[in-house]
Amino acid sequence: MRTVRDVDVAGKRVLVRSDLNVPLKDGRVADDTRIRKALPTIEHVLEHDASKLTVCSHLGRPKGKADPSLSLRPVADRLAELLGRPVAFADEDGEVRLLENLRFEPRETENDPSFAKELAGHGDLFVNDAFGAAHRAHASTVGVTRFLPSVAGLLLAAEVEALGRLLRDPARPFVVVIGGVKVADKIGVIDRFTELADAILVGGAMAFTFLASLGIDVAASRTEDAEGQGIARRALEDAKRRECELLLPIDVIAADKVDADAATTVVPVAEIPKGWMGLDIGPQTIELYAGWLGGAKTIFWNGPMGVFELEPFAKGTLAIAQAVAESDATSVVGGGDSVAAVNMAGVAERITHVSTGGGAALELLEGKELPGVKALEEAAS
Ligand code: 3PG
Repeated sequence: MRTVRDVDVAGKRVLVRSDLNVPLKDGRVADDTRIRKALPTIEHVLEHDASKLTVCSHLGRPKGKADPSLSLRPVADRLAELLGRPVAFADEDGEVRLLENLRFEPRETENDPSFAKELAGHGDLFVNDAFGAAHRAHASTVGVTRFLPSVAGLLLAAEVEALGRLLRDPARPFVVVIGGVKVADKIGVIDRFTELADAILVGGAMAFTFLASLGIDVAASRTEDAEGQGIARRALEDAKRRECELLLPIDVIAADKVDADAATTVVPVAEIPKGWMGLDIGPQTIELYAGWLGGAKTIFWNGPMGVFELEPFAKGTLAIAQAVAESDATSVVGGGDSVAAVNMAGVAERITHVSTGGGAALELLEGKELPGVKALEEAAS
């Protein structure tokens, strides 16, 4: 891949695809992390005297129809504040402009060449900086590269480099923390990491599917069906064969309901009261996992350890964030929830690389080729 640093942008009209898919609340940007991460490329283009800059992105999944609640206008406003200069929006004219949500147009996700060509009309050069959308073969990530000279933005290049480094000869011990709801969603990376990592620490609802697959009674905890449990059991067997330690929680915070005022108790995993459910990892598990993280030289973390949006079940996830920050390891955190946890714990600055990619980061780590990256590689050759 060539990056925006390798080309001359002076006097050119530049089209930048960013991933500005940010959470909105009451018509305002609720978390501007992705906008901030898009700034270096945008600023690079402006500082190197591009004649015009057009930024484009998707927001949410409007399914090819205009949906005012998914307009990028609030993002244009925030981008203008962060850049300290006006940002024209949609059909307005301006030196810097953000287009309306690309997914209001059905031809975007269909990767329709006619839409790719229309997008290409905004520039003499295309810069793809949307790492978070690099696993999507859409008009703005792949199609447009057929019509314009195309290079990677600084964020996309840094993401590919930081995540790729985990796969190439990581310093050991290499410890992976995986949480979240469904085993099936993460099995690709779990499988890859049973080959690459020294230990995988499992948390979140998926831990109960693993525990249930071993015949442990987890009471009313959320578990997957026989298929999901089969996937979990095979992962445990693979880990053993490949000499990777796959650790499961030993104790949990159990509650009678998923609610901030639920009654709670700390119990060993096999002793969750009847009708109650595990909603976070317990203190002994935190100690065990923090011990592994403290000794690690490389760490990758994706997915929360519990229902961390609710204060009584946030301790496990925040403790992991703290342990990752305190370790001397090269640390990479990916996925919206774990990134939110790192921000909540106030330790983002102490993580080596906080990825803006959820699905894209997981697919890259699984070893899948990302269409957006492949298109840039082809453009370079
Ligand atoms: C993300 O939030 O992971 C990216 O912006 C991609 O969004 P998508 O899953 O709707 O394609």
